[in-house]
Amino acid sequence: MPDQDADPELEARLPEGEVFEPPESFVEQANVSDPDIYDEFEQNWPECWERAADHLSWDEEYDTVLDDSNPPFYEWFTGGELNASYNCIDRHVEDGRGDEEALEWVGEPTDETRTYTYSELQREVEEFAAALRDRGVEEDDIVTLYMPMIPELPIAMLACARIGAPHSVVFAGFSADALATRMNSADSEYLVTCDGYYRRGDPLDHLEKTNEGLEGVEHEVSDVVVVDRLGDDGFGHDLAANQTDYDDLVAEFEGAEVEPVPRDAEDMLFLMYTSGTTGQPKGVKHTTGGYLSYAAWTSHAVLDVKPEDTYWCSADIGWITGHSYIVYGPLALGTTSVMYEGTPDYPDKDRLWEIVEEYDVNQLYTAPTAIRAFMKWGKEYPDQHDLSSLRLLGTVGEPINPRAWKWYYTHIGDEDCPVVDTWWQTETGGMMVTTLPAVNDMKPGSAGPPLPGIDANIVDTTGEQVGAGEAGYLTVNNPWPGMLRTLYDNDERFIDEYWTEYSDTDSSDADDWVYFPEDGATVDEDGYITVLGRVDDVINVSGHRLGTMEIESAIVGVEGVAEAAVVGGDHELKGEAVYAYVITEDGYDGDEDLRERIIAGVEDAIGPIARPEEVVFTTELPKTRSGKIMRRLLEDIANGETLGNTSTLRNPEVVEDIQSKVSND
Ligand code: WT7
Repeated sequence: MPDQDADPELEARLPEGEVFEPPESFVEQANVSDPDIYDEFEQNWPECWERAADHLSWDEEYDTVLDDSNPPFYEWFTGGELNASYNCIDRHVEDGRGDEEALEWVGEPTDETRTYTYSELQREVEEFAAALRDRGVEEDDIVTLYMPMIPELPIAMLACARIGAPHSVVFAGFSADALATRMNSADSEYLVTCDGYYRRGDPLDHLEKTNEGLEGVEHEVSDVVVVDRLGDDGFGHDLAANQTDYDDLVAEFEGAEVEPVPRDAEDMLFLMYTSGTTGQPKGVKHTTGGYLSYAAWTSHAVLDVKPEDTYWCSADIGWITGHSYIVYGPLALGTTSVMYEGTPDYPDKDRLWEIVEEYDVNQLYTAPTAIRAFMKWGKEYPDQHDLSSLRLLGTVGEPINPRAWKWYYTHIGDEDCPVVDTWWQTETGGMMVTTLPAVNDMKPGSAGPPLPGIDANIVDTTGEQVGAGEAGYLTVNNPWPGMLRTLYDNDERFIDEYWTEYSDTDSSDADDWVYFPEDGATVDEDGYITVLGRVDDVINVSGHRLGTMEIESAIVGVEGVAEAAVVGGDHELKGEAVYAYVITEDGYDGDEDLRERIIAGVEDAIGPIARPEEVVFTTELPKTRSGKIMRRLLEDIANGETLGNTSTLRNPEVVEDIQSKVSND
């Protein structure tokens, strides 16, 4: 396997610390190229956000851009009414663009593709919207969508949006338990799922997992719609009494017309569960007007999406990235969005580049973890393909190391595409910190300045801004349209999680409220922000957020485990990997059997993404005199770093023992 270290030419040409200018050819055609945009937003805040709202068609004009009378419960575009499905589909058809492609779906089996024009998408969405109504779904009912990357997922999302039923998409790779937890939390009585899907050539049983999950749902689930993805490759499950086949159901509604329901700007568009510090996932609530405006605006300004483009975000729709930047943002702008079912290395390691070439993809938005894998596989894979259609590259999900950035810029972008490193979160709805690709120079490894209208600052524990180069905490002072409105059914936790650190929570003045995303960062003399990573008990594995508490409680639930501590250790490809330190119960050995049961326990509770990289059995965990587990120390051990002062420990002697058990290779 070729090693990138053996490419001295590349290293020499692109030394660290170098600054890259936006390519001239890109600037000339960019959606946003005037640097005055930062001042315009600042001087005209919050009315500047009308620019975002102008990307949408409103049934009823809004009266107020921002209502900040009850912080942190901000409301945007109040009085306005709109429908997200209408904005993502119908209006483009009405504009005479019905025959243009909306979705290009690329299946994992290489001979399987489907194209949906905007008119075709409209027909599919209307038919499924009619079907959902027929099953009893009413406005404001939450519909859970537990589906992999198949076209019925965005169709179902848009069908829900059309009838004003918020969706809650659960990543298909999550376990049965995770599905049950989310359906219980949202009191969701409707589910759309599928029989299975393909992974590296093999069919995978999804319905069995779904059924197992449904057993854990505490309320009655009135209806389950099951997409037949696998056909003859399926597992032959019989459908239960409350389960209907998707195609059979939709066939009853052929040609149905369903008027998009006008929704209040502040009405919920969807819920998206994400991991937090406690074991319970958080139901992040996003609204119709603010979220959709923000997804559309950032797609336009940062990804430079134009209606005539073919744009590809390689994320899974089961995460926020796919919601905002496969479905809502790109379709609101009327572009062609590519959706890929498979993995980057099947059937071969050039699959993505084959797709870029075949579809003439103009923008590619992916994750650093994928780029590190491409780099490891070697440049001969992209070199086999003509990638000259690419105009812009993006990354999201975790910090990107400068070496991976430069590899992406050189071998995928041919040094002719700007790279946007976009920092944001499930909660922010869309991008927050990134360069504007035609305006700012790029600094590999640093996301860039906050977007226009975003007041992000790096502060110390007292809230004072830190000096250039000093590490501090990322905070956001002003609200923005795409922000979460609350955590589902839990306003108190919403305040606790995001607003207590730096706000005066007794104040009713919005200026006293500061959003805290729980990330550490530095800022340089040009205002460029480099995000260092989470400062809470959340770890980031391959760009996916996992709560250490969730994993710990899964491990403690395994027979024979007395206590567990989970931390993130550095990982070459994944960014971070799960390290589990486990104390066994009396009478149990830390043997291979227990290790396997622990891994299975984590996969059952969360899913394979949370699988521990290493399970280290120990007799004790390093604790402070007050009994708190020293996680920082466990992280350092996982990373094979020299340890600092351990004298504050109650049990310093355990450290050496644990160290000797961790393999640092
Ligand atoms: C966390 C949010 C945003 C969609 C994908 C993840 C980390 C995200 C970057 C970036 C450094 C990043 C942060 C953030 N993160 N993008 N460009 N540079 N870190 O969404 O699951 O809500 O996770 O991902 O730590 O807080 P998420």
